[in-house]
Amino acid sequence: MPEGAVSVRAKQFRRGYPGVDSSKVAGKVGAILARNTRIDLESPEVELRILMSDALKFFICDCRIDRRQFDDRKVAQRPFFSPISLHPRFARALVNLSRVRRGDRLLDPFCGTGGITIEAALVGAKVLGSDISEEMIAGCMENMTHFGAKWEEMRKIDVGSISDVFGKVDAVVTDPPYGRSATTNKEPAQQLHQRALSSMTDALREGGNMAVVFPQVCLEGGKDLRLRETHIQRVHRSLTRHYCIFTKIPER
Ligand SMILES: C[S@@+](CC[C@H](N)C(=O)[O-])C[C@H]1O[C@@H](n2cnc3c(N)ncnc32)[C@H](O)[C@@H]1O
Repeated sequence: MPEGAVSVRAKQFRRGYPGVDSSKVAGKVGAILARNTRIDLESPEVELRILMSDALKFFICDCRIDRRQFDDRKVAQRPFFSPISLHPRFARALVNLSRVRRGDRLLDPFCGTGGITIEAALVGAKVLGSDISEEMIAGCMENMTHFGAKWEEMRKIDVGSISDVFGKVDAVVTDPPYGRSATTNKEPAQQLHQRALSSMTDALREGGNMAVVFPQVCLEGGKDLRLRETHIQRVHRSLTRHYCIFTKIPER
């Protein structure tokens, strides 16, 4: 039983309980708790959240994320503007899925305007970025500076040169070009993605994670990579993003 005055809120997730009123669920749980605990909806010491998904899941609110901050970093709010960038909310999700820790070296080898590198810096990673375009590297640094996001190294290089230039990194997080709005430099997208996977695997330390967005079902990662999870996001009729998370398998 939580100590101190409690508030209870319930939320439906993906209509886990169709036809069930979430506020009634919160009220019933609150009534049970009220037998032993003080309920205070205005200034509670403990916030209990109920998520109604495949099952009823109970959480105690430990910290709060200001989700509006992501809108403040949207493409249109950046000094160097290009529509090729993921929404910051998805860029942050991709960074989090790589399980990167504060102080880890994280590389985005297709950094473009910096959507991913900004989020990575804000969670405390040591950021390395590269791109084949000089203009993108300059724009990426301009955007990062604008949001107070620091980087360790930014280089204009082809993805094939990353391990020569950066050595081993703890995480790779990236959104490569699909050959639509972002250029692949006339290289067939599938070929570029295969080539990128191979050099990103070389650059990644054993046990490290790689989080990559592909426009199609995940490519085979090769013998050194284990695909640990995939998340699918339908953007529009002709684009579905696949967020693919790989772990580099330690050599036996
Ligand atoms: C989808 S964009 C990256 C978007 C980025 N996440 C952002 O926030 O702007 C892909 C980037 O890959 C770069 N690129 C294309 N071919 C490349 C290659 N062979 N090596 C490195 N970068 C490349 C493009 O210049 C472009 O900036």
